[in-house]
Amino acid sequence: MSISSTLEEKIKLKLEEKVKQNSLRTLNLNIKGIDFSSNDYLGFAKKKIFLNEQIGSTGSRLISGNSNYHLKLEKKIAKFHNSESCLIFNSGYLANLGIISCILNRNDTIIYDQFIHASSRDGIRLSNSKSFSFKHNDIDSLNNKLKKAKGNIIILVESVYSMNGSICDLEKIVELSKKFDANIILDEAHATGVIGEKGKGLAVKLNLESEIFARIHTFGKSLGCCGAAILGSKSLISYLINFAYSFIYTTSLPKVSIKMIDNAYTLLKNSKNEISKLNSNIELFKETAMNYNVNFIPSNTPIQSIIIPDIDLLKLISKKMNKLGFKLYPILHPTVERGKERIRICLHSYNTHEEIKSLIMELKKLL
Ligand SMILES: Cc1ncc(COP(=O)(O)O)c(C=O)c1O
Repeated sequence: MSISSTLEEKIKLKLEEKVKQNSLRTLNLNIKGIDFSSNDYLGFAKKKIFLNEQIGSTGSRLISGNSNYHLKLEKKIAKFHNSESCLIFNSGYLANLGIISCILNRNDTIIYDQFIHASSRDGIRLSNSKSFSFKHNDIDSLNNKLKKAKGNIIILVESVYSMNGSICDLEKIVELSKKFDANIILDEAHATGVIGEKGKGLAVKLNLESEIFARIHTFGKSLGCCGAAILGSKSLISYLINFAYSFIYTTSLPKVSIKMIDNAYTLLKNSKNEISKLNSNIELFKETAMNYNVNFIPSNTPIQSIIIPDIDLLKLISKKMNKLGFKLYPILHPTVERGKERIRICLHSYNTHEEIKSLIMELKKLL
């Protein structure tokens, strides 16, 4: 097992301290009675629209914003992604920020891929621990940085990197995590609904779930909703409920959102067709772009990019493509490194083969 026993022990000790101080937070269902606790100042949250019952939130999960919908969905998501436990956050940003900022102290170390998402970077900034980046997807670089790491160690990586569609070498990263007794936090935002059987993610695809300290699945990408889940051990989830500020001090997702996410997971369970159409579109894009000699970063994911460091040209090409009826956006610094500005193409199951081919042909004329 790569999950460091010392970190698990540390989490448990912290929780025991909370029990001793009688301050352990748990997720309870709303108490009944006249509402003097929620933030539902105008009663809007009690409107019965889609669900024929109250759909609003009314407060944080620890006060009035918890419900059976939240708890049942967390169980469903944990089961789907093969995890012991699960906690829903209001967004992927808040999930990354919450876990990374609260899990380590100043004697510990975070080692992160240079291309990790801004939300993880902000989590690092809020954390008191030491941190070092390693070269993107470079196992030797990770190995070298791990040699310098002290205390409990977290390795922060993403299954699919959002700006170039590269996939992390999770098997090798797990090997290294075992060697250095480090813990992996894996952001599966762009793998959710895309990678593995029914889009369960990279860890499940490689059968490595039990080797990962925490997985973050977001609902704002393939699931078409908003929110995120952190998957991990029961102790980790209890720890987050007690220490992750971005979970504690915010209004919970309203039931209407929870219902949407629940529905999206049911769709995902039956999603064989959409996922195979998406994969066939990815293959078609790569094949056609290569045939047309387009200089792009090939990826086995929906994210394909074409580097165009000349910003004027990049913006001009995007505008021209927009005029031709293609929704494309230029990606600029600081989202990507200077000199690596690009057009980022996101493929979908519902794009037709004709649309993909004409996208490539029109782009080729402008490049
Ligand atoms: C890799 C990655 N992690 C986290 C997030 C944040 O997710 P959310 O949009 O749900 O806040 C994003 C969104 O762009 C992302 O690309």
